[in-house]
Amino acid sequence: MEISPTRPDKSQVLYTGKEIAVTVERMAGEISTVYGNEEITVVAVLHGALIFCADLMRELDMKVQLETVTASSYHGASTTSGELSVRVQCADQLVDRHVLLVEDILDTGRTLSRLSAEVMAIKPKSLRIAALLDKPERRVTDITADFVGFSIPDLFVVGYGLDLDGRYRNLPEIRAIHS
Ligand code: XMP
Ligand code: MG
Repeated sequence: MEISPTRPDKSQVLYTGKEIAVTVERMAGEISTVYGNEEITVVAVLHGALIFCADLMRELDMKVQLETVTASSYHGASTTSGELSVRVQCADQLVDRHVLLVEDILDTGRTLSRLSAEVMAIKPKSLRIAALLDKPERRVTDITADFVGFSIPDLFVVGYGLDLDGRYRNLPEIRAIHS
């Protein structure tokens, strides 16, 4: 008997697993064109980028090292800016390396702006950003990704690593939730 994962109510498929796979392959091609055979250090921004990063890495042919960082934002009622906690525990591994930050979604840009600044302070050889999803109309900081999978309107999305209260990361597709 086949058991499929539980989907959230009032949601619809935005991108199927197959469409995501095609896009991840296209991104890997763009990344390979930029770096050629140079070794890179992929830094996955946990937890959201876990699944995207795992698939993306396996499409890359150059030498790749993997590190992770944890970023979480707390948009409490008392603050409009949202407090961001970022930990770069792998600093020693990024010095003088070609660093590729891999993120699930670029939204306001606060997370990646903070992370980029932290990583630049470590003095990598280069720093680029790959984001599977981009919501350009939500941006409040001056940041763009070098490699983007899908540019989307202001929708809340889950699946393929993205969560709602910690759930639905295991869905193979990306779904939009209607509010
Ligand atoms: P910022 O605003 O810093 O946010 O660019 C990036 C982080 O916010 C989360 N985020 C989402 N998570 N569905 C999610 O599951 C969404 O539609 C969404 N929009 C933003 C995500 O953790 C991302 O790393
Ligand atoms: Mg995230």
